[in-house]
Amino acid sequence: MKRRQDRRRKSKKQSTGLKAMLLIVVAAIVGLIIWMGTNDWDVEKTLEQAGLSNADNELPEASPDSEDKAPEKSLEKGEEDEQNLPPAEVEPEEPSKEEQPSKEEQSFDGGYVEGQKLPSKPTYVKNILIANKKYPLPETFAPGENKEARAAFEEMAAEAQLSSYNLTAFSTYRSYDYQVTLYNRYADRDGVEAADRYSARPGYSEHQTGLAFDIGEVNHEKHWASSSFGTTEAGKWLLANAHRYGFILRYPNHKEQITGYMHEAWHYRYVGKPIAEEIFKKNITLEEYLGVE
Ligand code: DAL
Ligand code: ZN
Repeated sequence: MKRRQDRRRKSKKQSTGLKAMLLIVVAAIVGLIIWMGTNDWDVEKTLEQAGLSNADNELPEASPDSEDKAPEKSLEKGEEDEQNLPPAEVEPEEPSKEEQPSKEEQSFDGGYVEGQKLPSKPTYVKNILIANKKYPLPETFAPGENKEARAAFEEMAAEAQLSSYNLTAFSTYRSYDYQVTLYNRYADRDGVEAADRYSARPGYSEHQTGLAFDIGEVNHEKHWASSSFGTTEAGKWLLANAHRYGFILRYPNHKEQITGYMHEAWHYRYVGKPIAEEIFKKNITLEEYLGVE
């Protein structure tokens, strides 16, 4: 009798223990779900922090060396990484409906001066190097990536990191020859008229100055060289803060007739802090600032 009572007591104790354990597990799961919700949990980020994600390794920052390597065969979508080409220049977005040229812009000649030859010297206005459809660069102009611009970018990226934006410059200096490859590919794919709205002809690209930085977020390649970058928190942060580091958004929205190119939310140009501040505050383009429209 006593033994039976003991057994009953023991089994009651066990079931109470089990219930308590179950309660703890349920509470832990509920707590975890609430935490994930309130902390906007990012699986990728956590894996990356734990050193488990290799996304970074798959898409290394494009260096001038890798960019200058011309592809040996034509690229299919998705082959960019193997060729070490920045996605911006491999598969730029087609202009969206919203970005179709206005009536005014439709009669626009694309901005080039017919029959213009490349100069023997680059053009400086107010001490600023200009490269656009009216002011090309010599074919031999090959300064490489600008060191001051790179240092400013790194400083800016470090501040962005404090807000958890991991910025990267996926295309910076590009040689004349590399631009030949890029432009020809786009012109073949989309036709000259369309390509001229988003890709510079060789000798006309600001990337050849070493002062242009195409910026995106590490592990968010889908927004690289896409207008969607402008709608991301990182893209908005950049737009609001780049001038404090000497960068300007080079091709703003609705300024195609002045800059010669459709809006590029990712393309920033280093001009130094004072000029960048002024351009930002006045909401003007580099052409307007220099008076070379
Ligand atoms: N995408 C810019 C305009 C360039 O090709 O330099
Ligand atoms: Zn660019």
